[in-house]
Amino acid sequence: MGKYSKIAILFHWAIAILIGANILLANLAEDLPRAARAAYMSPHKAIGISILILTIGRILWRLSHRPPSISAQISSLQATIGRVAHILFYILMIVMPLTGWLMIGAKGNAAPVDFFGLFTVDMAVGKNAGLADVAHEGHEFLATPLIILIALHVLGALKHQFIDRMPFLQRMWP
Ligand code: HEM
Ligand code: HEM
Repeated sequence: MGKYSKIAILFHWAIAILIGANILLANLAEDLPRAARAAYMSPHKAIGISILILTIGRILWRLSHRPPSISAQISSLQATIGRVAHILFYILMIVMPLTGWLMIGAKGNAAPVDFFGLFTVDMAVGKNAGLADVAHEGHEFLATPLIILIALHVLGALKHQFIDRMPFLQRMWP
């Protein structure tokens, strides 16, 4: 069974860790009083912008580099389910940060994103109440399908590895 390229593996794990961190930060911030939230939401926004940039790079890399061929041990139905799940991931990895970035611009009252003290990121759009509502609803709604997809993805990987007994995790292991 083949293995993804080093660059593909680096993209996969860097983005996976950043997405995990962002979900954690948003959940930690949720129960806090408004004034205390910035300590979590400021890195949430900078990490989210990083995920957007990395995902664009990852998609460009993916389109120009074939993934390793999948073993014949996987049925064509399973391979198709995997492919659909991966496409959904790429869509969510673009739409989640984009709706976050659009939301804060369209609300018109958020501070610019401080990118880890290095520079500030301009707002994507100006104040726009309708867009703010759609982006906010989208950002909150899509968090749940993203978390479900991550859970299914991990269960699928573990199933192939330990129940089907094929060296599946090695495909994406550094
Ligand atoms: C936020 C977390 C994660 C995201 C967004 C994510 C996303 C993805 C995507 C998009 C692919 C497809 C790569 C491609 O062919 O273009 C992939 C492949 C893979 N991921 Fe993840 N992943 C995450 C976490 C994990 C974890 C925790 C594991 C380990 C249990 C894992 C194991 C794998 C494996 C083994 C593959 C290769 C699948 C194959 O060969 O078809 N992923 N992941
Ligand atoms: C892949 C990247 C991202 C993920 C996975 C993510 C995930 C989340 C989650 C799970 C929540 C909590 C939603 C809820 O209350 O149920 C949230 C809230 C929020 N996110 Fe993100 N986010 C990402 C990127 C961004 C970006 C790039 C920005 C802005 C630049 C942003 C700004 C916000 C804001 C302002 C909230 C709070 C919304 C509120 O007031 O209810 N997010 N995010």
